[in-house]
Amino acid sequence: MDSINETFLKAKEEGRKIVMLACYDYPSALMAEKASIDSILVGDSLAMTVLGYDSTLQVSMREMLIFCEAVSRALKRTFLIADMPFLSYQLGLEKALENAGKFIRRGAKAVKLEGGKEIAPLVKALVDAGIPVMGHIGLLPQYAYLKGGFKYKGREAREALNLFEDAIALERAGVFSIVLEAISAEVAKSITENLKVPTIGIGSGPNCDGQILVFHDLLGLFERFKPKYVKQYANLSETILKALSSYREEVLNNIYPDDEHSYHMSDDEYRKFLELLSKNER
Ligand code: KIV
Repeated sequence: MDSINETFLKAKEEGRKIVMLACYDYPSALMAEKASIDSILVGDSLAMTVLGYDSTLQVSMREMLIFCEAVSRALKRTFLIADMPFLSYQLGLEKALENAGKFIRRGAKAVKLEGGKEIAPLVKALVDAGIPVMGHIGLLPQYAYLKGGFKYKGREAREALNLFEDAIALERAGVFSIVLEAISAEVAKSITENLKVPTIGIGSGPNCDGQILVFHDLLGLFERFKPKYVKQYANLSETILKALSSYREEVLNNIYPDDEHSYHMSDDEYRKFLELLSKNER
């Protein structure tokens, strides 16, 4: 089997789109593999979609590792990439190596870090230590409070050039791929055309080498907000709500559980049981 680096590079060379999904648990990972998704990211977006935090800044290494292990148990052939959460790689090289190693030991084939040229030396050190790294530029949720909030990037020329330089610096540092999050389609296209490694877009137009969406967004399971780029391929919130209401109604009206969903004794054993009960002194 090819390594994650070889697989991603080959896809770009052959002009085949890479389809990624951010998902976080055993059942969703099983389904993603059945659907032949190329690679799964256990993203720190789980802070909001699954754990109900206000932002991705609140999720810890301990929590991320639990989800990484769950997804890893489901996957046989799909590449698993783990997102390094806030402050797991910003506190120095040694800490970053230790934390990245924890993900690799739990089944991840690579880690993803947010940041541009300023983290290039760190990326190089991780790659030199044998850990494949995916970059992530554009809208960076871990830095949103510092760098312009949740607005899309690459609207004006200076910012576009900065993003371009970030991508080049990360490629030179050894990343095998870069996520482009919420970058204008023009800039994403230009970055994609100028890199050897594939770009994976989310909200960055159609010209990236691959795409990633969050499981809960594309299935309509996350209703707190919906970015412009999210396409809902299903509305599972509605389906689940209907199912839960039916369950409640049926219990209240003695419809569930019916005979089909109940266990039974044989008539003979039931008769014996009634006899025993009648002799039983209470
Ligand atoms: O955490 C996440 O799900 C991500 C993707 C949006 C790329 O980083």
